[in-house]
Amino acid sequence: MSPPMQPLIVGNWKMNGLVAALGELWGMSQARPETEIWIAPPFTLIDRAVSLAAGRIAIGGQDCHHSTSGAHTGCISAAMLADSGAKFVITGHSERRTDNHETDAQVRAKTIAARAAGLTVIVCVGETEAQRDAGAHESTVTEQLDASLPDDLTDIIIAYEPVWAIGTGRTPTPEDVAAMHAHIRANLVARFGEAGQGARILYGGSVKPENAALLLGQPNVGGALVGGASLIATSLLAIAAAA
Ligand code: G3P
Repeated sequence: MSPPMQPLIVGNWKMNGLVAALGELWGMSQARPETEIWIAPPFTLIDRAVSLAAGRIAIGGQDCHHSTSGAHTGCISAAMLADSGAKFVITGHSERRTDNHETDAQVRAKTIAARAAGLTVIVCVGETEAQRDAGAHESTVTEQLDASLPDDLTDIIIAYEPVWAIGTGRTPTPEDVAAMHAHIRANLVARFGEAGQGARILYGGSVKPENAALLLGQPNVGGALVGGASLIATSLLAIAAAA
């Protein structure tokens, strides 16, 4: 089985977006782009975003807790996301790995919990600049994949986001993107066989309308996980068009 050809563009709004931002979501949904677009707004907007997107854009969460419910003040479970109409969740984003000291084991537990709640899961991996400079980028990503993924790839999407490219305006060269995505593909195939061959691998990190065609045109790149540029409908639609 060959990798899926239909690209997927996922917007991660991070800690951005008041109710007024839903106008951008409305713009995206009305454009009815040919490329599939998903949006992960902050938790506070999920319910309204689901209504507004009316099924034309899948809405998801940016994180979830590994437990179904309980005494975890301030946390959101995967079951709660699903109950709000979310279809997917992002786990293991580098900002959570850094800000909240999340380990690969925790990312794996969240991923398993999210799937049990019926969500598709976008599992993020990626090296820091120091790790790349030290030539440890592939081994870092291998370790993250090995310890963060569950025992099968059902409803799992991988997002490769080099930490040093996030929000910086810097990106790896197209050759480096292709090399890392080939590395991830090989890892998935070695562990999961045919399922690894068919899994979607997104690229994330300073994707803009100007560089989207080049980055997304690389082998094994099945779409993009977009931060800053996903906050503006015209930018995200331009990225989707380039894909
Ligand atoms: O999850 C998306 C992200 O980390 C990339 O952010 O702003 O560099 O597109 P940005």
